[in-house]
Amino acid sequence: MTDDILTTRSGPVLELRLNRPDKKNAITTAMYAALAAALGAAADDAEVRVVTMIGSGGTFTSGNDLKDFQQAPALDMDQPVFHFLHAISTFPKMLVAGVEGAAVGVGTTLLLHCDLVLAAPNALFSLPFVDLGLVPEAASSLLLPDLIGRHRAAKHLILGDPFDAETALGYGLVTDIVLSDLEARVRSVADRIAAKPPEAVRLTKRLLRSNEEAVRTRIDEEARLFAGRLTSSEAAEAFAAFFEKRPPNFT
Ligand code: COA
Repeated sequence: MTDDILTTRSGPVLELRLNRPDKKNAITTAMYAALAAALGAAADDAEVRVVTMIGSGGTFTSGNDLKDFQQAPALDMDQPVFHFLHAISTFPKMLVAGVEGAAVGVGTTLLLHCDLVLAAPNALFSLPFVDLGLVPEAASSLLLPDLIGRHRAAKHLILGDPFDAETALGYGLVTDIVLSDLEARVRSVADRIAAKPPEAVRLTKRLLRSNEEAVRTRIDEEARLFAGRLTSSEAAEAFAAFFEKRPPNFT
């Protein structure tokens, strides 16, 4: 159990809050396990109709905990991070995310599996996998080019350029930019969905997500490459550089 994921139930809506603000909500192994368990329980609970995901302290998440990457890398498929990725990518009910501030790495790729994404004007999305010596995950190497085209995907997945809320809106990664009180808007959207006929919602979500098998296969394919990269000298240098607050040296 971890207090870094807060779950709050309001009738048919379950809120999952990433709650580790001192580390910009970096997601640890324990947090992935808690998220996977919460999604699994929500999928099985007929009373839950919508799940929302938000951050805390003005940040969505700084992505995977880099200390975990250094000290406890997920090297096989039976790891909480992969349980989480499979749980979110196959989650049968509506997922609504509210993004404020940084959404790094998995903080952006998990949004590709959400149904509605609301963003504050200061939301900043980034996918620094290559700069960390890694490869994309969460089937983002499939879903991002599908969404925005291969060449713009390369700008973010290889060049590592961050993009702002307006750009994400143009890409179709974000549903709406919310100028004030993002959390209230996330709740009101979740309440609207929860009041709709649940079976019609469930079937429509399933129809909108037509490539489930390809996504599952890609998550696993990426994960095998990712595991190899985690123990590479490139990644070791990138992680060390982050904590030593210096530029990495890949020469
Ligand atoms: N893993 C572990 N710790 C992290 C972290 C991460 N992904 N992101 C931030 N932290 C920690 C920092 O080490 C720092 O800890 P400290 O106070 O003990 O020194 C604290 O969180 C605050 O981070 P800081 O970098 O000072 O905040 P910032 O506002 O200047 O920058 C980010 C915020 C998110 C832009 C920056 O922290 C960042 O780039 N983080 C790494 C993102 C990343 O590469 N994630 C992996 C993606 S695959």
